[in-house]
Amino acid sequence: EKGGYDYFMLKEIAEQPKAVADTLLGRIDPSGSLTLDEVRITPSELREVDKVVIVACGTAFHAGLIAKYAIEHWTRIPCEVELASEFRYRDPILDSRSLVIAISQSGETMDTLMALRHAREQGSKVLAICNTNGSTIPRESDAVLYTHAGPEVAVASTKAFLTQLVACYLVALYLGQVRGTKWGDEIGAVIRDLSKISCEVERVLETMEPVRELARSLADKDTVLFLGRHVGYPVALEGALKLKELAYMHAEGFAAGELKHGPIALIEEDVPVVVVVPSPRGRSVLHDKIVSNIQEIRARGARTIVIAEEGDEAVAPYADHLIRIPATPTLLQPLVATVPLQVFACELATARGNEVDQPRNLAKSVTVE
Ligand code: F6R
Repeated sequence: EKGGYDYFMLKEIAEQPKAVADTLLGRIDPSGSLTLDEVRITPSELREVDKVVIVACGTAFHAGLIAKYAIEHWTRIPCEVELASEFRYRDPILDSRSLVIAISQSGETMDTLMALRHAREQGSKVLAICNTNGSTIPRESDAVLYTHAGPEVAVASTKAFLTQLVACYLVALYLGQVRGTKWGDEIGAVIRDLSKISCEVERVLETMEPVRELARSLADKDTVLFLGRHVGYPVALEGALKLKELAYMHAEGFAAGELKHGPIALIEEDVPVVVVVPSPRGRSVLHDKIVSNIQEIRARGARTIVIAEEGDEAVAPYADHLIRIPATPTLLQPLVATVPLQVFACELATARGNEVDQPRNLAKSVTVE
C-alpha cells in the first residue's frame, strides 16, 4: 500500500504533482476563468464580503498565511489569519459580511471546528477548505472547496499542504473574478500559470538527490534555522515545523527582515541556515534585501543553504549549498519552494533513525482542544 516506497510520507511527497493537478481539475473552464460551483456562497454574497478571516492549525495555518498575500493582492479585501486555538478566546470582531475560511486536511481538528462554530454564531459565512469528504468541518460549514490530495496517511502533512495552497489561490482568484479588481488581466495569467505548476513540482522532485545528501550530512546538528520573506516567510515556518516533528531537532523559521532585531544573535560557526529567496524578477527589492541577509549570516560563519530560482545568479557566491527551483510568479513560489524542505526533513528523520510516518507524541488528527 506504500506503492514501493519505504514510507507513506515519501509516497505522498511523490504524489504532489498529481494532487495539485487533481485539485485544479474541473475548476478552470476553457475560457480560462474559474467555476467554483461547489462553493455554495452566491456571487452577490461574495461581493458583500468586507473582511476575510482564515483559521487553521499547524501546516494548514501556514497555508493560510500564504493565502493572505494572495487574497489581499488580488482582491484588496483585508485578510487576517489566526491560529484556530487562539481565535475564539479573544472575542474576534465578526459579522455577516466577514467570510471565514477554515482550512483542515482531516476536517476533524477540534480547534478549527470550535473556531468555525464561533464564527457562525456571529453570523459569518464559513467556507471550508478540506481534504476529507463528509468530515465534520465541511459538514458544519456554509460551503466547502475540497482539496483532492487523496488520503494522507503520514502524520506530517505534505501533499495536503500543496493542495491547500492551490485551493486558497483558487478562492482568492475567484473572489477577484466575482468582484472585479484592477488585477483582472493578471488573474487570467495566474490561472494559466497555476495550470502549469504540477509539471514544475514534478521537476523539483526530479532534482532532490543533492538535498537528501545534504540532509544526511546534517544528521548530528542540534539546530537548523529557516529564513524567508513575503510568501517565503510562511514557507520558512513550514520547513521548520516539518523538521521539528520529523527530525526532533530544534528548528525555527524567521522573517528575514527580523534577523537584525534579534535572531542574528543565534548565528554562529557552522549553524545551518536555510534561506528561501524570492524571485529576482517579481519583487526585486526583496530579493536584493535577502541577498544581503545571506551575506550577513555567512560572514558570521553560518552554513548557508539557499533555495533560489533557476537563473538567479546573484545568490550563488554566498550559498554553501544551492537548491534550484523553477521560476514561478512570486505568489505561487511556495508550491515549489516547500517541496525541498519536505524532502530535507524526511531524509533527516530517516538519518536520525526516527519513525517517519508516526513521529513521537503526534496524532494525524487532533480531535481534542
Ligand atoms: C504538520 C501537521 C499538523 C496539521 C494540523 C492541522 O505536518 O500535520 O500541523 O497540519 O494538526 O490538521 P488538519 O489540517 O487536519 O486540521
